[in-house]
Amino acid sequence: MKKDRGVNKAPGQASSHSKLSDRGSKAEKYYHDLVALSRVSAAISGLHDLDAILKIGLDNVLSIINGTVGGIMLLDEPSQTLSYRVYHGLSAKYAEEMRLKLGDGVAGKVAQSGRSVLLEDISSEPDAARIDLISAEGLRAFISVPLRAKDNVLGVMNVASHVPHRFTKGDVHLLHSIGDQLGIAIEQTRLHERLRRARERLRKLARQNLVAEEEERRRIARELHDETSQSLSGIALQLEALMEMSAKSGNQDAKFIAGLKKVQSLTVQVHKEVSRLISNLHPAVLDTLGLAAAARQYAKSRLQPLDIDVTTEVKGTEMRFPPDVEAALFRVVQGAIGNIAEHSQAKNASIVLVYLRDEFSLSICDDGQGFDVSGITDVEESGRGRGLFSMRERIGFLGGTSGIESRIGVGTTIWAKIPIGQDIIYGEDKSTGN
Ligand SMILES: Nc1ncnc2c1ncn2[C@@H]1O[C@H](COP(=O)(O)OP(=O)(O)O)[C@@H](O)[C@H]1O
Ligand SMILES: [Mg+2]
Repeated sequence: MKKDRGVNKAPGQASSHSKLSDRGSKAEKYYHDLVALSRVSAAISGLHDLDAILKIGLDNVLSIINGTVGGIMLLDEPSQTLSYRVYHGLSAKYAEEMRLKLGDGVAGKVAQSGRSVLLEDISSEPDAARIDLISAEGLRAFISVPLRAKDNVLGVMNVASHVPHRFTKGDVHLLHSIGDQLGIAIEQTRLHERLRRARERLRKLARQNLVAEEEERRRIARELHDETSQSLSGIALQLEALMEMSAKSGNQDAKFIAGLKKVQSLTVQVHKEVSRLISNLHPAVLDTLGLAAAARQYAKSRLQPLDIDVTTEVKGTEMRFPPDVEAALFRVVQGAIGNIAEHSQAKNASIVLVYLRDEFSLSICDDGQGFDVSGITDVEESGRGRGLFSMRERIGFLGGTSGIESRIGVGTTIWAKIPIGQDIIYGEDKSTGN
């Protein structure tokens, strides 16, 4: 590359080399550059779409320097190749075919060195690559500036003219500063996108976990019911028969009879315990009678022993949802009722299920001590908050919304709404992130 054509001063150093001699025009130039910079910055601020940033950035640059030809090339890291992402005033053939390895051609060298270049006439530049394309396009004066973020060059911005000697060093300094701004904006967009994807991956994982957990619970419940529970009731019956036999045979051994009785009642107790476990894992009534019945049964079995009065009310015409949806809704009820049992110290609780044509809603209230909802923003080390978090996630996965309202000394309400009338497929994310 010919010497004396490169311009690589920081924008602030422009004045010492500027041809503008008198103070008035220097100040004017500064003012012009400042306005130009803030114009680009205002135009791209708040944008997260890479193409929009690049397009708006380029349009602004061209209008600032009264140019009509230019483009932004981005560096593809794996292949170390620059290619045009947006352009203006260039033919599609030029933009498509102009691909430069890092270090090749003018733009390739700018990207490699991170230094801007001003060429009075690129058509006679020995370092230029694809001179055929450049001549066919009729490009003469040419500026190429790097788009940098910290020490990384992410691409270059080129501005050209069909006449030679069209640009000044001042133009290069200005474009260099704008290039830095665009570089940071590109980097931010990429970080933003990476963050969005990471979040999406986590949500997917959380959703898969919930689905897998539900399947596992259902499997264990089935196995416990088919194997353990059946065997236990068989044993209990056998023991009863043994007790009868022993009575009929006139067995007077009090110790033996008492022992048999003890084993029999223990078996009955274990059987009850297993049934309770099964019902917690996946209540059969959820499959047979549906959500309202399962909610009513669960709430009673959990709250009545604690002397908490609970009612379950259905408004509208009750309908059945796909099993996975019902299971997810039941988990929400289970979580909320569990919280009332564990934390509320309530006297009364109520569950209301409302079936509308296009929406199902659920609310679970208690008149207990309440809590500070704003104090629970995360899942704590102890697991506190996990229940509320997974309730919100489950509803989110159903495309619905949910919330908690609680007042100290008054009570707590948990509500959830999901859309119906369209295919609800549990595990397919339709949530908007709330
Ligand atoms: N109905 C309620 N009444 C009072 N406090 C509640 C109620 N529901 C939830 N909380 C509070 O919110 C916290 C978080 O609930 P949750 O996420 O289910 O976690 P965990 O029940 O494991 O503590 C509870 O520890 C409790 O302090
Ligand atoms: Mg809980």
